[in-house]
Amino acid sequence: MPAGRRRPTGGDFPDRGDRRLGGRIARTPRKRYGPRIADRPSVPIPKAELHLHIEGTLEPELALAVAERNRLPLPYADAAELRARYQFHNLQSFLDVYYETMDVLRTEEDFADLAGGYLDRARAQGVRHAEIFFDPQAHIERGVPMATVVEGLWSVLAASDHRYGITSRLIMCFLRDRSLASAMEALESALPYRDRIVAVGLDSAEVGHPPSEFVELFDRARQEGFRCVAHAGEEGPSGYIWEALDLLRVDRIDHGNRCMEDPALVARLREEQVPLTVCPLSNLRLGAVGRVEDHPLLTMLDAGLLVTVNSDDPAYFGGYIDDNYRLIQQHLGIDDAQLLQLAGNSFRAAFLSDAERARYLTELEEYSPADR
Ligand code: ADE
Ligand code: ZN
Repeated sequence: MPAGRRRPTGGDFPDRGDRRLGGRIARTPRKRYGPRIADRPSVPIPKAELHLHIEGTLEPELALAVAERNRLPLPYADAAELRARYQFHNLQSFLDVYYETMDVLRTEEDFADLAGGYLDRARAQGVRHAEIFFDPQAHIERGVPMATVVEGLWSVLAASDHRYGITSRLIMCFLRDRSLASAMEALESALPYRDRIVAVGLDSAEVGHPPSEFVELFDRARQEGFRCVAHAGEEGPSGYIWEALDLLRVDRIDHGNRCMEDPALVARLREEQVPLTVCPLSNLRLGAVGRVEDHPLLTMLDAGLLVTVNSDDPAYFGGYIDDNYRLIQQHLGIDDAQLLQLAGNSFRAAFLSDAERARYLTELEEYSPADR
């Protein structure tokens, strides 16, 4: 293991072969140490997760436990029955289940458990920094105040670096299929938590809800000092990506796959090195691509775009971020250099300080893909 590399947590890596006993060094018999190469746990590549909806990490087991705690009836006998509903044919068919299931989240404790569950899994998958979306309007409209959501998430995220070895930021998303007025109200109610939220985003049903409807909202958010991102070109046309860039003046595009239909847009994204937060398993499960082999990620990389790989709604799409990395390695023939490029891009595109970014890129330099 190169100097400075962190040992994987939770694995059974050996300690060094000497122990201090009463001030003298006692050498422990070697056979108790040094697992065979085949037994060595693989080490996931260090990476940042930039496109992750915290409500999309609600695993069926947690949903059922929280429902019981809140004395809410859920019409499923067990987690397997709920999971069986996770079959989608497009974005809307997923959103229907996503909004329905998150209705169990009512208290600060529920949101804290959600964040803790995610960070546990993220740590095991090599995440070193996470920028986490949440959907306040989806909670406010069911009577759960902004304060409950932010305080609950923050009770865990505030110490994520210390407790999980993961730095974190919150990104508040506006629901584009609700009114502008509702989004403006959500923004106002978030202002007291200004120091906990790094950026605003735009998500939910895309087609028929172009970025141009939210110019005033994003102008106001920018005046308040928020960075800006937006889902665009997931199901919607490439024109929505142009609008997100020119009208909402976003720092990153979430998804953005459909840019590949528009050569002038690809040239713009390459020239300005606008980060794209691509989510392969999500695209597969929501039918944006028919087969993994048809995923445009490799073409996007070859076109010089600043692509990152992310998990979107991992509890619903069958895998967390390293599962997405493995999927593209296995099915798209991503090589080691491209793997390192993608992980490097994730830190380059993150809302990190220069010092944090440099620290993570150094950690990545010390990583060997042979350990995967
Ligand atoms: N909300 C949660 N996941 C989403 C996605 N993939 N697209 C748009 N809105 C979402
Ligand atoms: Zn998303």
